[in-house]
Amino acid sequence: MISVALEEAGRRGCETAAAEHIVLAVCKDSNSGGAITMRRCGLSLSEVSARIDAYAAANGSPRQRAESLESSALRLLDAAASAAQGLGHDHVGTEHIALVLPQLDTLQVGQLFLKMGLTAPAAQEAVEQWINEGMPRSDGNGRITGLLEKLRLHKLKKLLRAPAIGWKIFVRRSLGHPRFVSNPYPLYRWLRTREPVRKDPLAPVWILTRYDDVATMLRDAKFRKDPFALDRLPRLVREQLDATPDRVDSDAVSMLFLDPPQHTRIRSLFARAFTPASLAALRSRIELICRKRLDRVHASGQMELIGDLAYPLPVFVIVEMLGFPAEDYEKFKRWSDEMTASLALNAKPEHHAIAAEARDQLRDYFDRVVLPMKNRPADSLISRLLETEGQPGGLSREEIFSNSVLLLAAGHETTTNLIGNGVVALMQNRDQWAQLVADPLLVESAVEEILRYDSPVQWTSRLTGERMELGGRTIEAGEIILGCVGAANRDPSKFADPERFDIRRANNKHLSFGTGVHFCLGAALARMEAQIALSMLIERYPQMKWTGRKLSWMKGLTFRGVRFLPLALR
Ligand code: HEM
Repeated sequence: MISVALEEAGRRGCETAAAEHIVLAVCKDSNSGGAITMRRCGLSLSEVSARIDAYAAANGSPRQRAESLESSALRLLDAAASAAQGLGHDHVGTEHIALVLPQLDTLQVGQLFLKMGLTAPAAQEAVEQWINEGMPRSDGNGRITGLLEKLRLHKLKKLLRAPAIGWKIFVRRSLGHPRFVSNPYPLYRWLRTREPVRKDPLAPVWILTRYDDVATMLRDAKFRKDPFALDRLPRLVREQLDATPDRVDSDAVSMLFLDPPQHTRIRSLFARAFTPASLAALRSRIELICRKRLDRVHASGQMELIGDLAYPLPVFVIVEMLGFPAEDYEKFKRWSDEMTASLALNAKPEHHAIAAEARDQLRDYFDRVVLPMKNRPADSLISRLLETEGQPGGLSREEIFSNSVLLLAAGHETTTNLIGNGVVALMQNRDQWAQLVADPLLVESAVEEILRYDSPVQWTSRLTGERMELGGRTIEAGEIILGCVGAANRDPSKFADPERFDIRRANNKHLSFGTGVHFCLGAALARMEAQIALSMLIERYPQMKWTGRKLSWMKGLTFRGVRFLPLALR
């Protein structure tokens, strides 16, 4: 929208875009929240545009676009941002612009709207009503369109000339926009088609969206892991990528952030817990946990999938595997929740402080409760790892702690989201649910398709170890590369009809667990948990139905999943 405003101003030969250019941009997108608000207040968009056009200043010969925003535009955007904040919204949309226009009567454009009858209460009522209806933006064909889908990202480059606004409105807020959060795939598709190897104009990162490029990034040793690379990013980007300095430091010895040979040493010791034999021994425990969780809700005929099953199941399993006392489950759940809250895109400073506190408490717990296990040998992963401490090729205490936290975090949220995203996809594609009910042996390929279609992990990163060519672009050594697994998994050059959810899909080589030396250590465990949970749901509740009104997707670039999923079981 700001790009369009800059173009509107440029067309009139202006060097800066004013408030009226922003309003023209809002009117131009007839499906924008602002345009819808105006129409609902009885204004005709063409008439509004014509009247603004009549006084929008012309200042010399036309140019491609204006260079920056002038103070009236900044005032309008600031007022819109405050209105969004006042309403508790995580994004700034054009609806907030329409909302504040009548209040800005010191601006010419504000006076114009007042004269045309757009009063503050009318705008307020229209916006509230539209939000309550779920912010519909039908383009007449029933298709949803809007800001992010329409955004031509190359235009964002121009925003570099107004970086503060660029950050605030687009990077920080737009990725928290409900449309991107609920469905990032149109934006991925746009990137993959137009600029599959893209140097981001707003951040010192490269973005890969094609399958082959993401797979190369994951497999090729020229791409390194570097826990400190993220530290070089501007603060806001770091927050976007879920990488606060705290987190980066304490992850320094986590295998996920190391290259061979340290990676190989740590991974091979932890891998002992994930042999086929160890996992087979866990099967009956996972079945029992699932059965108990479903028994708890059976009589009520209803469940909230995430809280009742998808969330607790992987925590119980990983806590048990690590050998942490099961009775402390609630503590792990709280610490894990608090650490996860700081990963949200809209996380506030207090969330980061709470997360750091949770990590400290976990560390304290580890020292008090877990370390003494060394003297009480038991058949748990932790006690076996502690035995290697101080031995050649063994692990340090710090390595055991960091990698146990990694298992707790990596093995938890991701698996919760695999089960959650799976049930969402199956409920939204009822024919596929019916096929699974009719043929439960399809559960293995169904889980693979869920992983591909809506991966719980959407992005991962590397650092270039040397100068290289990729997708016709030259990337220097030491650059940060973000590989979009979610986009790679829908690359039509690899998957036929990639936007279709098809539980019978063959040759499904998705990248949801990564590939190469960092291939997910818990992949087999996650698959088993999801297969067992889904098998039990189809067997016990073939008529199961989603009863919610609107899906509530979590914000955050890395993980993808819903917060709640209410279901009627029969
Ligand atoms: C659906 C569930 C899961 C998904 C989608 C997932 C995804 C991933 C991905 C994409 C990576 C590679 C990241 C990279 O290369 O940068 C990874 C690594 C890892 N995952 Fe998972 N994961 C899941 C479940 C689990 C579980 C259940 C555990 C353990 C209990 C686990 C433990 C790990 C570990 C330890 C690594 C690091 C491996 C290494 O660096 O060598 N994950 N996971």
